[in-house]
Amino acid sequence: MREAYSALFSPITLGGLTIKNRVVMAPMLVCYGLSSGEVSRRQLDYYEARARGGVGMIIVEAACIHQSGRETATQLRIDNPRYISGLEHLTETIKAHGVGVFIQLLHAGRQTSSLVTGEQPVAPSPLPCPITREMPRELGIDEIKHLELAYVKAACNASQAGFDGVELHAAHGYLINQFLSPHSNRRRDEYGGSLENRMRFLINILAGIKRAEPQLLISVRLNMDDFIPGGLQLDESIDVAIRLEKEGAHLINCSSGTYESGLNSIEPPSYQEGWRAYLAGELKKSIKIPVISGGVVSSPAFADQLIASERADFIFLGRGLLADPDWAHKAGQGQGSRIRPCLVCNRCIDSTFKGLGARCTVNFWTGREGKQMLVKTSSPGNKVAVAGSGPAGLQAALSLKKLGFEVKVYEQAARPGGLLNIANRPPHKHRLTRYLNYLLSELAYYRIPLLLNRRFSAESLEEENPDYVVVATGSSPLLPDEARPWDTAVDMLDVLENRVEISNQKVVIIGGGINGCETADYLINMGNRIVIVEKEKVLAARMEKKNRRDLLNRLDEAGVVKMTGSTVVDVQEGRVVIERGFGQEELEADRIVLAVGYKPNNQLYYELKQLHPRVFLIGDAQRVSNIHNAVIQAETVAQNIYRMSWE
Ligand SMILES: Cc1cc2nc3c(=O)[nH]c(=O)nc-3n(C[C@H](O)[C@H](O)[C@H](O)COP(=O)(O)O)c2cc1C
Repeated sequence: MREAYSALFSPITLGGLTIKNRVVMAPMLVCYGLSSGEVSRRQLDYYEARARGGVGMIIVEAACIHQSGRETATQLRIDNPRYISGLEHLTETIKAHGVGVFIQLLHAGRQTSSLVTGEQPVAPSPLPCPITREMPRELGIDEIKHLELAYVKAACNASQAGFDGVELHAAHGYLINQFLSPHSNRRRDEYGGSLENRMRFLINILAGIKRAEPQLLISVRLNMDDFIPGGLQLDESIDVAIRLEKEGAHLINCSSGTYESGLNSIEPPSYQEGWRAYLAGELKKSIKIPVISGGVVSSPAFADQLIASERADFIFLGRGLLADPDWAHKAGQGQGSRIRPCLVCNRCIDSTFKGLGARCTVNFWTGREGKQMLVKTSSPGNKVAVAGSGPAGLQAALSLKKLGFEVKVYEQAARPGGLLNIANRPPHKHRLTRYLNYLLSELAYYRIPLLLNRRFSAESLEEENPDYVVVATGSSPLLPDEARPWDTAVDMLDVLENRVEISNQKVVIIGGGINGCETADYLINMGNRIVIVEKEKVLAARMEKKNRRDLLNRLDEAGVVKMTGSTVVDVQEGRVVIERGFGQEELEADRIVLAVGYKPNNQLYYELKQLHPRVFLIGDAQRVSNIHNAVIQAETVAQNIYRMSWE
């Protein structure tokens, strides 16, 4: 296998430690921990998979340095020597793969809740974060000194546990950033006012760690821009970094945004690959210590280019490594098309907001690494026919093949991919095309036959005689009650597939779920004036939070009118009558677009079930849902068939 991307895969020395390449796993609090704060088996398995996958360095997720700054109930703790033993197990596990390992040290300040910490949050100034909303208590000078010491003690614990370094989390609106940022720090003592004063907390911590553990490497994750009015901006951040270099920091990990700024720390899909790489690029002109850059980076070529053009020394990957732990290995071996792409759907962060462990839409095994089935040496070799080549069918075929089955995929259409071919049409959905290309290239890699224009049928059962049949025939648009005069309306699929062209018209979209809103997003670019009618109180209710905010911002900017809590009572040529509150309203419409949902295509399943004892139904054909559900069902059916084959 050839070595690719010579800049990205060149080694670098950091304070005496040689790192084999420039790919860094970004710190991600994925909530796989225990409520005791100790390292869990699940965390060991999760980190080991990423270490095995070839990254040069891992920055372990934000660990709690003091109870008052705990961010989540299952966060790792490093505030007491009792946690050292578990953490040592973690460093050993990661280092066994020749990977450098840091741990991030966090105090959340005002960006936590008394429900987690058991006490009122603390901050430099009594200003609530507009997102968490809880009024924090202003820290006294003695308390600040106490917290500086808590960071130093945490670093000593990290050193004992075998970490090569620690990363001070001075970004994203957490405590150190709260001190640095004039937006959140209104103090009038030696910790507030001038930049010199605002960085005192950070510099004291750094100096304390250097005194206590001179050999320990120190990275600082710094907001290069808070992206909020009155917040920290690039020029001041560069001054902070220059000072950090002078005081002996080894690495600056560039980041941006806070809870309040919303979308610039963990971006939604409308942000371009590497959109904030300019921040690290500017910083590199002013300091000599290495700089980590990143943010929505997905392609090895792009990452390599950032290093080769000296705009960064390391590239961090966050969500990309949740989607594919083997990103670095595949990139290094020139197998970029085999990297399972992150969709930037933000299910990962959304699940943690709900108190769950992070889930990845495209990678079933994220957070379940330890449960991966060990394939028995002699493969079952049974034949499986998969009907349908949407995400559920393609994933099921791949999972079954990896478990040793002989698999064929049948697709009645001329092109594979099912609804992925349509879902990728609205703005910023291009990653779905990459995902489909990935699934197809994996199919080719594993030599799984894909038969196009071939509907699997009762006759196919006779001809092929498969041992198992997996039906993944997807879903079709739901059409409303036929008694009503819907003829004047078109379906959203007609719009997205360009069967009807709608430009410069008054459009009423009936249905404001994810599909209706994305169809509106598609249509605003063509000069249309759009009204969305939705019976629920909010639009796109089931969409991940950040992505929903991003999408609705675009609809707002384009002046899309949202008629929520509204029911359609009549549709006629040129008008839609809705019931809203206590009255009826009439909406003018040159075009009416239906986006009222999908129904399962499950006919084939019921047909085959009469004829064969082992037929399974998965994906939208089983229950209309999303890619995440399709992938879960695909993996689950593969495991169930595997178990059955050994019974
Ligand atoms: C689930 C999740 C948890 C995160 N937790 C942390 C964290 O503990 N510390 C931190 O500095 N950043 C955290 N981040 C931000 C990432 O480190 C990274 O900066 C961000 O995801 C953008 O990079 P990406 O586009 O490569 O994912 C988290 C991101 C995600 C998705």
